[in-house]
Amino acid sequence: MTRRTGSSLVILALGLVGLRTAFVGIGSAARGSNRVAMEAERKFIVGGNWKANGSPDSVKALIEELNAGEVTSKDVEVVCAPPFVFLSEVQGALRKDYSVAAQNLWDKDPGAWTGETPAQMLSDMGIKWVILGHSERRENCGETSQIVAEKTKFAVDKGLSTLTCIGEKLDARESGKTFDVLDEQLKPLADILSEDDWEKVVLAYEPVWAIGTGKVATPEQAEETHAYIRKWLADNVSEKVSESVRIQYGGSVNDKNAAELGQQPNIDGFLVGGASLKGGAFTTIINSV
Ligand code: PGA
Repeated sequence: MTRRTGSSLVILALGLVGLRTAFVGIGSAARGSNRVAMEAERKFIVGGNWKANGSPDSVKALIEELNAGEVTSKDVEVVCAPPFVFLSEVQGALRKDYSVAAQNLWDKDPGAWTGETPAQMLSDMGIKWVILGHSERRENCGETSQIVAEKTKFAVDKGLSTLTCIGEKLDARESGKTFDVLDEQLKPLADILSEDDWEKVVLAYEPVWAIGTGKVATPEQAEETHAYIRKWLADNVSEKVSESVRIQYGGSVNDKNAAELGQQPNIDGFLVGGASLKGGAFTTIINSV
């Protein structure tokens, strides 16, 4: 990402963010310009989490659909995360303006770890990204916030960028504990990552109650939580990290609701599950920015 200063940045930013600026709360001219500038620096990033879906035929078809999709915005970064067994094929055949991510990694060096895929193997084969700490792994594979933080650190040390997931379950949302859960998930990350490490980390805020349920967070709910996360980073990491870290929203994002969610000033992208398995819908989401 290019970093510029002064008025040229503001002009560039205004051009880039378009409608999104309408949602920026401008307290003063100087603060407003700064806010717009920061938004412009946080390039929108859309991830497709294919989860454990796909067959040899369906993956081929999905790659073809994605490759045929016409991306109308240059200001969006796209990352597709197929299951491990398809990584190599997707890496070879997917259009080169999209990156490929693994959905997990093993945070040890290669060796006697039957059934695991060390970070080094991913980076050796040119994979640049990894999803970590998805709620399905936290829930089903015993990944604690400490483990997720350690994996994130290990991945960054091996040169990978991460989409590190956080998010509360329904009972926490309903009992007003959302921010407590996020604090608990963020703290080990803040403890283990250096300020420079954060440059390779994207946070994916995925309320568990919205994942795969069709029950999407409202733009207001998502924005409120993203703003909270950004403030938490300012208070517990640094202003610089708070302003530069990209925060994706995930949970039932589709081609119909993406545009409105994407207009929120603190939503810097999406992590998409179900709708990322349909090439046309995924392309629409990418173009909705
Ligand atoms: P969903 O999944 O879009 O199907 O809700 C999102 C995710 O789990 O990353």
